[in-house]
Amino acid sequence: MARWVSGAAAAVALILQGCSDDSPTPRPPSVPAVTLRNGVQMPMLAAGTWQYNDSVAEDAVVAAFNAGFQHIDTAYDYHNQVGVGKGLKRSGKARGSFFLTSKVPGCGSQNVSAKSVEQCKTETEDKLVIDLQQLNLTYIDLVLVHFPPCPGDDGTAESPSNSSCYAPHSGCTHPQACDMIRAQWSVLTNAYKKQQIRAIGVSNYCSACLECLAGSEVFPMVNQVQLHVGMGSDPEGFRTFAEKHQIKLQAYSPFGSGGHGSEEILKAGCGMSIPWHVDMRGNLTTSIGNKYGKSAAQVALKWIVSHNVSVATKSANPAHLKANLDIFDFTLSDGDLTSLDKATFASED
Ligand SMILES: NC(=O)c1ccc[n+]([C@@H]2O[C@H](COP(=O)([O-])OP(=O)(O)OC[C@H]3O[C@@H](n4cnc5c(N)ncnc54)[C@H](OP(=O)(O)O)[C@@H]3O)[C@@H](O)[C@H]2O)c1
Repeated sequence: MARWVSGAAAAVALILQGCSDDSPTPRPPSVPAVTLRNGVQMPMLAAGTWQYNDSVAEDAVVAAFNAGFQHIDTAYDYHNQVGVGKGLKRSGKARGSFFLTSKVPGCGSQNVSAKSVEQCKTETEDKLVIDLQQLNLTYIDLVLVHFPPCPGDDGTAESPSNSSCYAPHSGCTHPQACDMIRAQWSVLTNAYKKQQIRAIGVSNYCSACLECLAGSEVFPMVNQVQLHVGMGSDPEGFRTFAEKHQIKLQAYSPFGSGGHGSEEILKAGCGMSIPWHVDMRGNLTTSIGNKYGKSAAQVALKWIVSHNVSVATKSANPAHLKANLDIFDFTLSDGDLTSLDKATFASED
């Protein structure tokens, strides 16, 4: 049910939610879970750890749990799994009470070879063992293949920063790509069967990549992709494909690409003086948020979950962490959802 507040009250609420670390934000209601195809329950909101070093990641995990998160997102190539593992331990939380997602690198990226399918498979197995060791866990709740393969013309690895690997479809057009996708997937499937992983999925996989896995004994349960206001609600048809194939889509970078949020989504920083002639960005999310007594960030997250998509967000700020969980007590109107669906922002990097 939408919670309508007056403009003045909403402004005060926004200041409290977005600008003060010690605001008495009430503990948010518990986060709903999505049920994966195998029945595993995955909390809809995850606290991400990309770009954090070990010590920041350790503190971020503890802060996320303190705020009420039950789901942490990390990856082999974040180089912070040791810190994440320490944070999990320091939190004192029972293993069954939190959900941990990690990712193994795709073939040809992040030190996994694309020279041969066999080599890629072996190195993926090795990375998975390292994931478990670094996290200091006996099992991981969800493991994703981080990227589609990025083989060069001669089968050697290319940097994942090469745009050909990030382009929506090209990761799967190389002749070896489907073989590599199947090889990596078999590693995850085996670990899943050995109960080292409770659920398996992919990330940054376009539908062509996913089609390489048609007929697999276990099909991906999750596809984690970039999705935020400004991209439209079904970029590249990701959402339609996922719904058709019972894959749970998960959004990353909900505040814009780059890991630092975008002013086009997040209102300009608290305390920042805005010259009168400067375009005040974040206008759409901010003005919609004003109607509900919510911040621009909360509207950006609510738009994603309203489309039945789970989301990995990131914050090192305890007030932001709490606010990011506090999105389940209001409903965006159809008109507001449509405005957010239609928003188009220039992409950044
Ligand atoms: N699979 C993949 O390839 C992939 C790629 C990218 C990301 N991811 C995952 O997704 C996670 C989230 O994406 P992201 O790291 O790009 O970050 P993000 O959540 O889109 O944005 C983080 C930025 O937003 C700010 N922020 C967070 N909550 C806020 C709030 N309530 N109000 C105002 N500002 C707020 C943060 O600043 P403060 O710290 O000051 O709050 C930070 O600067 C990653 O950490 C990672 O786990 C996966």
